[in-house]
Amino acid sequence: MKLVHTKTELDQLVAEAKSAGQRVGFVPTMGALHEGHLRLVDIAREQADFVVVSIFVNPLQFGEGEDFDKYPRTLEADCEALEGRQCDVVFAPSATEVYPPDGKPGKPTERAGIIGSTFEGSARPGHFDGMLTVVARLLNLVDPDVAVFGQKDAQQVFMVRKLMDAKFPQVELVVAPTIREASGLAMSSRNRYLTPAQRETATVISKALRAVDFAAKHGLPASFCIEAGHTLFAGEPEAKLEYLAVVDPQLFKPVNDKFKGEALAIVAARVGGVRLIDNQIIEIREQDA
Ligand code: PAF
Repeated sequence: MKLVHTKTELDQLVAEAKSAGQRVGFVPTMGALHEGHLRLVDIAREQADFVVVSIFVNPLQFGEGEDFDKYPRTLEADCEALEGRQCDVVFAPSATEVYPPDGKPGKPTERAGIIGSTFEGSARPGHFDGMLTVVARLLNLVDPDVAVFGQKDAQQVFMVRKLMDAKFPQVELVVAPTIREASGLAMSSRNRYLTPAQRETATVISKALRAVDFAAKHGLPASFCIEAGHTLFAGEPEAKLEYLAVVDPQLFKPVNDKFKGEALAIVAARVGGVRLIDNQIIEIREQDA
């Protein structure tokens, strides 16, 4: 595995792989890797012969008062973890490589549109514009055949799919399932900030999603499914629910009570100072007889 920091070094390695007829897989990350990321690498490996993982904490997707400065930067540990997972190249660019000439991002060059200001976008104004901008830069820098993103960030995946369909149709998008701890808590770089007690509290998030799923399977209308999830939060005052919604996965807009079929339950909540998100694909069935 090679660690490179510049586009020139990366270009050479990717060009060598491509000229040897290899399919190039790409996993963009912001580092602080956990098992969830490493599974994305495993999936990239299944899809490609040569795997590039980028590690770049993108200032443009952090808003005022968010955790950009204190976002964990653990390059050495990340590289050690990747050594064990058949990664070929770790691309850890400086800000100047990503945002030339001076490393200052300036204004986002990609726009997330209306859906970009709902749910996560409403809590984090500008986040999706910044995320899409860096994803576009990284896809241009790496030039992969396939890119792997985690379902955990469902709204991000929705936006990235639109970006890739429009601007990177040559790159295949693979969405990897969310990896969970035994308690059901979705793996996230932010889990490291939770105390053991808060980790326990945070399990309400996946429990609420399971309650939504259960209600959907029994044919309850979307608003009742959401209510079932709310009930779980009502019993866990240490978790502050920000939103719990059921959206149409094609539109990322809330479904109405007539909706039947595959939908996506999405949730965001704060536990202590830590903001956590999760989601689950559900099937709203016809009402039980
Ligand atoms: O999901 C993330 O870690 C980031 O949003 C991404 C896709 C690496 C862009 O900075």
